[in-house]
Amino acid sequence: MAYVNLLYEIADSIAQVTLNRPEKLNPLDGDTIEALTACFTDIAADNAVKAVVITGAGPKAFVAGADINRLTQLSALEGRAWGLRGQQVFSQIENLPKPVIAAINGYALGGGLELAMACHIRVASPNAKLGQPEVKLGIVPGYGGTQRLPRLVGKGRALEMILTGDPISADEAHRIGLVNRVVPQEQLLAEARAIAAKILENGPVAVALCLDAVNRGLEMPLGEALGWEAAQFGLSCATEDIREGTQAFLEKRKARFQGR
Ligand code: COA
Repeated sequence: MAYVNLLYEIADSIAQVTLNRPEKLNPLDGDTIEALTACFTDIAADNAVKAVVITGAGPKAFVAGADINRLTQLSALEGRAWGLRGQQVFSQIENLPKPVIAAINGYALGGGLELAMACHIRVASPNAKLGQPEVKLGIVPGYGGTQRLPRLVGKGRALEMILTGDPISADEAHRIGLVNRVVPQEQLLAEARAIAAKILENGPVAVALCLDAVNRGLEMPLGEALGWEAAQFGLSCATEDIREGTQAFLEKRKARFQGR
């Protein structure tokens, strides 16, 4: 399938989505947001895709943010619509019942960091710089930065990043839990794919239910969230996968999950 400003390929059940305007550091303009929406709608429906890796083209940037050229003339209402549109596709990514891994190969600024934070797992190369520089442009992060960043790294660190606008290094991002791993750039995609492949060894229904339990549970008070977890656990007990997984353990063999 072809999408504007995106490269798309599937290998070993893993889709790779590459933001592809490297000469402009892969910014998010309206066309790219529409393309991401179409691409992730297709991914959700495609049973051949079991996991996703997102990265940026070129050695320099994952995504350097929203396309600043498009931001200069927005009215208040247009700005709100712009924010809601981006938030919609990032929530679509976050709520995909298949693991999504960001391979952050350079700048992840503004909408770029917001896109990475909507993914389930983040791996970065040492040259990555992560930040929410919007205040330097006189605007507020609009694609979820003020909400997902404090949820990932805590309010104090998030506010320092959001209020100073200064980016942090890959190592610092790793230290505060914003990225899961830092690996040399030439190994970045292989590492992201290896994490995806490891997840794909597990029961697919259980993986999808875990994503849902964590994503939705974090939005609920603890008591309700624990009830939601119990419901998801109950659902997993009704699958063929639990029979296969437990039987394989008892028979000391590798499970052959069918995802049902
Ligand atoms: N939107 C549109 N174009 C962008 C962009 C963005 N967010 N980020 C970079 N570009 C473009 C630059 O305008 C430049 O285009 P040009 O060659 O036609 O002049 C090209 O990408 C290369 O960027 P450049 O600034 O020359 O590279 P650099 O290595 O000197 O600096 C950055 C890299 C990331 C530090 C710098 O580009 C930057 O600060 N970008 C904006 C980041 C930002 O504020 N993002 C949040 C937006 S809400």
